[in-house]
Amino acid sequence: MCGIVGINGSRPVSPLLVDGLRRLEYRGYDSAGIATLVGGQIDARRAEGKLDRLAEKLVGEPLSGTMGIGHTRWATHGKPTEANAHPHRTDKVAVVHNGIIENYRELRNELEKKGCVFASETDTETIAHLISDYLRQGMSPQEAAAISLKRLEGAFAVAIIFAGHEDLLIGARRGSPLALGYGDGEMFLGSDALALAPLTNRIAYLEEGDWVEVYKDKAIIHDAGDKIVERKIHITALSGAMIGKGQYRHFMLKEIFEQPAVIGDTLSTLVTPDDILTMPQMPFDWKTVPRVTIIGCGTASYAGLVGKYWFEQLARLPVEIDIASEFRYREAPMPAGGVTIVVSQSGETADTLAALNYAKSQGQKILAVVNVPQSSIARASDIVVPTLAGPEIGVASTKAYTTQLAVLLCLALDAAQTRGGITPQRSKEIIHALHQIPAQINAVLRDEHHVQELAHHISEARDVLYMGRGLLFPLAMEGALKLKEISYIHAEGYPAGEMKHGPIALIDENMPVVFLAPSDNLYEKTASNVQEVAARGGKVILISDKMGIANCGAKLFHSIAVPTADNAVLPLLYAVPIQLLAYYTAIAKGTDVDMPRNLAKSVTVE
Ligand code: AGP
Repeated sequence: MCGIVGINGSRPVSPLLVDGLRRLEYRGYDSAGIATLVGGQIDARRAEGKLDRLAEKLVGEPLSGTMGIGHTRWATHGKPTEANAHPHRTDKVAVVHNGIIENYRELRNELEKKGCVFASETDTETIAHLISDYLRQGMSPQEAAAISLKRLEGAFAVAIIFAGHEDLLIGARRGSPLALGYGDGEMFLGSDALALAPLTNRIAYLEEGDWVEVYKDKAIIHDAGDKIVERKIHITALSGAMIGKGQYRHFMLKEIFEQPAVIGDTLSTLVTPDDILTMPQMPFDWKTVPRVTIIGCGTASYAGLVGKYWFEQLARLPVEIDIASEFRYREAPMPAGGVTIVVSQSGETADTLAALNYAKSQGQKILAVVNVPQSSIARASDIVVPTLAGPEIGVASTKAYTTQLAVLLCLALDAAQTRGGITPQRSKEIIHALHQIPAQINAVLRDEHHVQELAHHISEARDVLYMGRGLLFPLAMEGALKLKEISYIHAEGYPAGEMKHGPIALIDENMPVVFLAPSDNLYEKTASNVQEVAARGGKVILISDKMGIANCGAKLFHSIAVPTADNAVLPLLYAVPIQLLAYYTAIAKGTDVDMPRNLAKSVTVE
């Protein structure tokens, strides 16, 4: 989704804006631009494509000024052209915007009747003309901004500068996050704390409906009713170093290799070294919870799907799971006393937030598993059990996924211990197995060359199937998503037991089929599926432990060995080879691994 940066300071602002936008590149975009105030007048530079194009333009046509706004655009209304790139402006204001203004056509018609001339197809330009119209009526910038924001319907985070007002930057949020950064003699606005990390670690998060006057030495925050309010200033742990690639070629590879450490960090907040659970106090009693509902999107939903198996098998708790974009409109009846677990890396996914709000309206207790503790989803929840994955920059989620799994398994164990679903001994066994996961993932990572060899063959495929059973079925879904989103190869995840109900018709010598099949109680069933595929000439790739590979008995195109472990913790282990397979296949294809086409890191619009 779009990225916003605003700076009100005393240093040359143009390079600072571009640098801030670079820290938002991971969100995905297709054009960029900045605007500054020069001698009280607004000037702007915009470019289609990546930030390097904008930087080149600024070399030839530099922008001076110490106050300005910047934007990376992920096109919603209007093609990704320079004309549609932000900032959008009139002679009086310049605006950058993240979100969708749902009533922009109606406003545009009204403004065009007043003689406003539009230069783009965007909803954002309407905001610039609306504020300018109120300024022409004699209002102050603050009044014009406040009244205009109230007329907008839909979701927005905006930053606005005003001709002739070198001291004033205005920001606002409704439905899209906006952070306020406190510097020394300079103040900042950013879509998230990452964008501002090199500038300040003192961050306040605007609440829904807030708008803010940002001066060089202070900020005046107004709530939706224009009342002046205070918002807590947090000291973020983020630093410029944390969000670099280090010695890795891509953020995604760095984050795959960070998994042993960040799973260890996450576990350290949930269990003791001697395998005792130390969960936070829940605002409900697992004993009386009639049902758990788990919601999320994409990879987060596939973490939730593993969570379903854990809650049902360990805590004997009924679980319903749905993807957020469907759940938010289903009007599902929900039981009194139910708990809804919301899974999200960014904590800003629009569909997930909307689904959370529906569950809340049905009286559910909301438990958030998020990677950004100050995010909108975190703030809307009754309790947050955070993943400690650290900033995840690669669009393809990896370390967030495995830390979500770690949290969900500990939550299921918490429920199981409270409800007596498993013995204390079994609980300790699983926690002990969890403690081995970081070392076992390191073993898989040391073997990455095995996956690299396979990736070249997969990169030539047109379609790939991923198959798994039980706890490994969600990993088949996740493996398919990883492959398609960064290599652009069509892939589908399927329950292995469904082979004969359709997918087997796809099998031929051009169809790689990745089976995730540990030597567990379901192995023999899946081994039969492997035989069926091999017998029809399909290219079987078996991801299993050494015994599973040895006993398979079918002709394998390739195999990837994974350490044996307690069945309950296998999803955390099997996530790694499928991540590596997607990564190296994308490398072989030459795609943009960290910023795949059309994708954004956080989908903050519907
Ligand atoms: C996963 O690799 C994708 N980037 C995408 O499916 C992502 O998981 C989904 O958009 C949910 O994002 P969230 O976890 O930030 O809510």
